[in-house]
Amino acid sequence: MALKRTKIVDAFSGELEGQQVCVKGWVRTRRGNKHIQFIALNDGSTINNLQVVVSLEQFTEEQLKPITTGSSLCVIGTLVASQGKGQSFEVQAQEIEVYGTADPEEYPLQKKGHTLEFLREIGHLRMRTNTFGAVFRIRHHLAFAIHKFFNDKGFFYLNTPLITSSDAEGAGEMFQVTTLDVNEMPRTEDGKVDYSKDFFGKMTSLTVSGQLEGELGATSLGAIYTFGPTFRAEHSNTPRHLAEFWMIEPEMAFYDINDNMDLAEEFIKYCVQYALDHCQDDIAFLNKMYDNTLIERLNSVLKDEFVRLTYTEGIKILEESGEKFEFPVKWGVDLQSEHERYLVEKHFKRPVILTDYPKDIKAFYMKQNDDGKTVRAMDVLFPQIGEIIGGSEREADYDKLMNRINELHIPMKDMWWYLDTRKFGTVPHSGFGLGFERLILFVTGMANIRDVIPFPRTPNNCEF
Ligand code: 4AD
Ligand code: MG
Repeated sequence: MALKRTKIVDAFSGELEGQQVCVKGWVRTRRGNKHIQFIALNDGSTINNLQVVVSLEQFTEEQLKPITTGSSLCVIGTLVASQGKGQSFEVQAQEIEVYGTADPEEYPLQKKGHTLEFLREIGHLRMRTNTFGAVFRIRHHLAFAIHKFFNDKGFFYLNTPLITSSDAEGAGEMFQVTTLDVNEMPRTEDGKVDYSKDFFGKMTSLTVSGQLEGELGATSLGAIYTFGPTFRAEHSNTPRHLAEFWMIEPEMAFYDINDNMDLAEEFIKYCVQYALDHCQDDIAFLNKMYDNTLIERLNSVLKDEFVRLTYTEGIKILEESGEKFEFPVKWGVDLQSEHERYLVEKHFKRPVILTDYPKDIKAFYMKQNDDGKTVRAMDVLFPQIGEIIGGSEREADYDKLMNRINELHIPMKDMWWYLDTRKFGTVPHSGFGLGFERLILFVTGMANIRDVIPFPRTPNNCEF
C-alpha cells in the first residue's frame, strides 16, 4: 500500500517520530555541501518549514539539480528529532520525486525580502511567502471564530442577497448590475434608460450591506448574523478601503444600544483571543518581522474595557486637544481616521465606542434621540485602524422612520418590505457591521488592507 501523505504541520506534532513518512510541498531553499544537502520544504499547513536531509551517498548531484526554490516535491523518508537549532523534526530522505520545477531565472520568489508592494504585483504567487501564508491562515481562523462565536450564542447565519434593488446605506456608492447592452441602452419616451427591459425588470446593484434584509431575519428568528462580500464603489484610495470587502452583520431583536455595544466588545475580544490561541506561530512571525508591538497591542485590547462616550464629548476632546488636524473638527463633521486615532491612541490609549452621532452624517434607519439632532449610532474605534465597527439601535417607530425617509427623499417604492417590519409587530432592535479585513489588519498588524484579502479590488485594480 502506498504511504499516505503527512501534512508538515502534523509532522511537527511528534507523534510520528521514528516512522517513515511521505511529505509533499514546495522548496523554500536548498543549501549544503558535497556530502549533505538540506531542503526547506513548506506545504502551507504551517509557517514552519520541514527540513529534508539529503545524503549525497544516496542521491547524485544530477538528481538534485531540479530541486531549486519554488519547485515542488514528494519526499519519502524517516522522521527524526532534529539536531539543528530551532527545529524539532526533520526528514532523512530515501526517495524524492520532483513534481514540478521552477526555473531560477524566471521564478519571481527566488530571493527573500521582496517589498509588499512588489508582492502585490505578483498576487498570484504571494501566498507562497511566509508573510502571506501567515496572513491568510489567520484570516481563515478568524472566519471560523466568527461563525463559532455566533453559533455558540444561538444566532442564525442568514445569507442576504448580493444583487439588490435597495441602497441600504443611502450613500449611493453602488456598482450597477445589468445585462443591458451598455452601448445601446433601451430608452423610455422621455429619454431615460428603460430598466423594465433589464434582467430583473428594474435597476439593480451589488449590495453595500446586508443589514436591511438582516433586519427581516432578526424580527423573525430573533438574532441573526450575515457574513458575506460587500461592494462599494467609493473612490477612496486609502490603506483601509476596498471596493469588495467582507462584512459580518449581526442583527438582534430586543437589543438596545447598550446591549449592542456589549455584544460588539465581547465579539471583537473573542476574535482576538481566538487568534492568539490558534495562530501563535503566524502571529509571532508577523510580530518579529513587521511590528514588534503587535502581540502587546492584541493583549492590551483584551485587557482594557472599551471607553464609551458620545460623539459630542468626543468632539469636545478633539477641539481642546490643541492638535493640528488635516481636517478641522467641529460639531457636525464626520470624523476622519486621524480624529478617531487621536481619541484611541493618544487620548484614551484604548478602544473607544463613540455613540449618538449627528443624524445628518448617519444613515436613515438609526433610532432618533429625543434631542432631534442625534441618532443612536455606535462606532467602535480601534488603534491603528480607526473605525472597525459601525452600528446602531434601529428606529422602530413607523412614523418617525417614515419622516426621516421623506426628509432625505429616499425613494421608498422599492422598500415597502422594510417598512412592514415597523408596521407588523415592530420591536426595539439593534445591529452592527464589522469590516472583516479591518479586523484582520488589526490582528496581523499589516498596514495596508490590500495585503489581508487574497484578491483585492480597488479603483483601477481588478487582476484575476
Ligand atoms: O459603517 P458601515 O458603512 O455600516 C454599515 O454598512 C451598516 N449597515 C452596518 C450595520 O449596522 N449592520 O460599514 C461597517 C464596517 C465599517 O465599520 C468598516 O469596518 C467596514 O464595514 N467598511 C469597509 N471595509 C473595507 N473597505 C470599505 N470600503 C469599507 N466600508 C466599510
Ligand atoms: Mg461607518
